[in-house]
Amino acid sequence: MDIYIDTANLEEIQNAIDMGIIDGCTTNPAIVAKEGCEFETRMKEILKIVKGPVSIEVTTIDVDEMVKEAVEYATWGDNVVVKIPMDANGLKATKICKEKGIKTNVTCCMSSSQAVLAAKAGATYVSLFYGRIGDMGYDAIYEMSDAVDLFERSGFEAKIISGSIRSVADAMYSMRAGAHIITIPPAILNKMHVHARTKETIQEFLDFWEDYKKKHK
Ligand code: E4P
Repeated sequence: MDIYIDTANLEEIQNAIDMGIIDGCTTNPAIVAKEGCEFETRMKEILKIVKGPVSIEVTTIDVDEMVKEAVEYATWGDNVVVKIPMDANGLKATKICKEKGIKTNVTCCMSSSQAVLAAKAGATYVSLFYGRIGDMGYDAIYEMSDAVDLFERSGFEAKIISGSIRSVADAMYSMRAGAHIITIPPAILNKMHVHARTKETIQEFLDFWEDYKKKHK
């Protein structure tokens, strides 16, 4: 079970690295735009600090342009994974990238059928958008476990990333549904290690220790 962080914020990425809990990072144009940073510079900074795959998304839906961007991104580091949107053009670009030895993450998949096509086209990773699937009224747990099952039965090497995570429950249900990787926004990741009873328990132990120190001065 791998956990990636879904952000382009350097401080949040470093914080998660320092906790030893992340295996990679995912970004998309919306995430980068929110940071208001210079795209190439920030991506190179992330590639340097993350010791694992970093997904960088293309900014076009034209096949030749996607491949052009993919070839460029691939020169930025050994851990580059080019994120390519799911549609007929995306599948074509994925196939070309596979032939060129460029790793891809086919993104914006909303169904197990799309995930299967992405794997067939040669994707290294396939991102199934757990939260957005649920927003449309579909059963995201079913879609995730169906895709995982189909990948296993077909012997696909591609790994399924559960994305669009909006709560700790989304992350946990994705894990239980068998997603190979969950990419989690910092706000959710920072909730996962918090438990009120844990805090109380730690404080209880520290209070006993303070009493002990007073008595044994
Ligand atoms: C991850 O790869 C996706 O880009 C991201 O999780 C999308 O999340 P959203 O549905 O909250 O935009």
